[in-house]
Amino acid sequence: MRIPLIAGNWKMNCTLAEARELAAAAVAAAKGFTDRQVLLAPPFTALTEVAKVLDGSGILLAGQTVSWAEQGAFTGEIAPFMLKDAGATAVIIGHSERRQDGVIGEPDNRVNPRLRAALQAGLMPILCVGESLATREKGWDETEGWLKKQMDEGFAQLSLDEARRLVVAYEPVWAIGTGKTATKEQAQEVHAYLRALLAAMYDKSLASGVRIVYGGSVKPSNIDELMSQPDIDGALVGGAALDRKQFTRIIQFQAAN
Ligand code: 13P
Repeated sequence: MRIPLIAGNWKMNCTLAEARELAAAAVAAAKGFTDRQVLLAPPFTALTEVAKVLDGSGILLAGQTVSWAEQGAFTGEIAPFMLKDAGATAVIIGHSERRQDGVIGEPDNRVNPRLRAALQAGLMPILCVGESLATREKGWDETEGWLKKQMDEGFAQLSLDEARRLVVAYEPVWAIGTGKTATKEQAQEVHAYLRALLAAMYDKSLASGVRIVYGGSVKPSNIDELMSQPDIDGALVGGAALDRKQFTRIIQFQAAN
């Protein structure tokens, strides 16, 4: 049984006042729903303020990345213990905006060390994978190959017990912030492929337990159909998570099955 996860990634947005307001709206929206989990990933500066608003609500708090190192001389990085100290229990790792050349341009080989550091500290990592438009246009074989490489790199050296604690986010780069959502069929096809990969990398029981969430222009108008797909276990929402009304509707999705 995989509990659906609706996550809001606020990226580099929000003053403290805006963060408090958005968090309070999410608390109100999630109230009474026991069949789903909600998570907010504010910028680092707002973590402690958001933690106060979320206190007792059951909504999870996450960082948007985390350092691979325990602590020390790493200017600009945030250590796993700092995230926990600020109230976070989860962290997004390997988001395409961090990986992409010309955006942040972080090398792919940073992803796994960050992920292992998060696990070591007891944080729940959300590992992002996804292909670019150029890769998608080269066809399904290329797309599969790209995703397999990112999954192999991400899960490198993880034991079965560690791998169980991850959430995977499929975020096709061409659908992020573009208004172009993958169709429910396109997303389901990739999610089923990612689950099959996990079964081959570990075993069927692990693959059927790991949550695979979709991200890329998720909106009130497409959340219900996405959540009705058998292998889509939630959403990682960017733009629409910054709008109270839209995120409320997304939290309150209604799946057809
Ligand atoms: P948008 O919902 O704005 O497309 O962003 C998706 C995303 O990157 C979430 O991490």
